Amino acid sequence: MGSGRNVAVFGAYGHTGRFVVAELRERGYVPLLLGRDQDRLLALALAQPGLEARQASVDDPASLDRALNGAAAVINCAGPFASTAAPLVEAALRAGIPYVDVAAELEANLDTFAHFAERARAAGAVVVPAMAFFGGLGDLLVTTAMGDWAAADEAHIAYGLSSWHPTAGTLASGVVSGRRRGGRRVRYTGGRLEYHDDALPTLEWHFPAPLGLQSVMGEFTMADVVTVPSHLAVPEVRTYMTAKAAADLSAPDASAPTAVDGRGRSAQTFVVDVRVRSGGTERRVAAAGQDIYAISAPLAVEAVDRILTGRTRTTGVASAGALFDAPDFLRALSSHLSLQVPLDTRG
Ligand SMILES: NC(=O)c1ccc[n+]([C@@H]2O[C@H](COP(=O)([O-])OP(=O)(O)OC[C@H]3O[C@@H](n4cnc5c(N)ncnc54)[C@H](OP(=O)(O)O)[C@@H]3O)[C@@H](O)[C@H]2O)c1
Repeated sequence: MGSGRNVAVFGAYGHTGRFVVAELRERGYVPLLLGRDQDRLLALALAQPGLEARQASVDDPASLDRALNGAAAVINCAGPFASTAAPLVEAALRAGIPYVDVAAELEANLDTFAHFAERARAAGAVVVPAMAFFGGLGDLLVTTAMGDWAAADEAHIAYGLSSWHPTAGTLASGVVSGRRRGGRRVRYTGGRLEYHDDALPTLEWHFPAPLGLQSVMGEFTMADVVTVPSHLAVPEVRTYMTAKAAADLSAPDASAPTAVDGRGRSAQTFVVDVRVRSGGTERRVAAAGQDIYAISAPLAVEAVDRILTGRTRTTGVASAGALFDAPDFLRALSSHLSLQVPLDTRG
């Protein structure tokens, strides 16, 4: 039996997994270190004395069942999630524990909703895809900006990244997603995903100070186009990325993030600027912080904490904005995120 404080982290020795392990410890949880590579797991366990390492493979359901024994919840940090999400959700359902992942592959996020919504709801289980920087934070911000609106005409989520040094996992997930959409691009318009071959537009975006005016790639479509419409009636959801960060990501010599502080964070800064429009009224909220991988850890761990303490609004497969009190969730992350609260602007 577990203590109720054991939280399994699949992909624990990955870049994001390590941030999640550290955050769980900081919050008084006991991470169980899960992954497929025994040597890498043992190396991590040596660096994290007192934590248990459990080797498990997505091809071996019995190994996943053993690895989840005694866990109160599981956070899946192992991507590409096209391979890992479904086996881990299945294992979490068998174990009767909540499942949270950090998947930014919108095809994998869609699959999680499509394949598990009914079963998770029937079981009273909670499954949260994209509970991270992309997908989760944008959804919390859009939900906060919407406030008392049940519907809006448009939601715009602009990512103001100072740079983007992608991890191997990010690059591999991009390759898998690209393959799954047949090399085509995707946007969310008219209440559905549309696949196309158009060149991405370059636009200007006014971020809050100090970032200010930046060149951004329009239709740089991220997981928010799955999470936001999963619970909000918004037919147009558009995401944007600073052109410099988009170029970093696709550079042939893209290098991995390097730590510049004691928490292991890189020097990368971000602003996520959200605008929602209904008729002639626009509402806006923004959040700023440091390192998109590092911030994913408090997002995922706060989600687990709220699920385990019953601070949820629904069951089944649900995005962050649907499951949690979004403004309250964001306030709880005030030591990691600086927030600019919603303003109404009449056009
Ligand atoms: N939504 C967001 O904002 C957000 C934020 C952070 C990360 N992510 C996503 O999270 C994933 C991991 O990112 P990362 O930065 O941690 O990358 P990383 O440092 O390269 O780590 C990837 C991890 O996934 C594991 N893994 C990959 N395929 C696996 C499989 N089939 N079975 C078991 N383990 C597998 C790797 O284990 P091995 O070393 O054994 O291959 C490694 O532990 C990526 O998909 C990334 O896009 C999303």
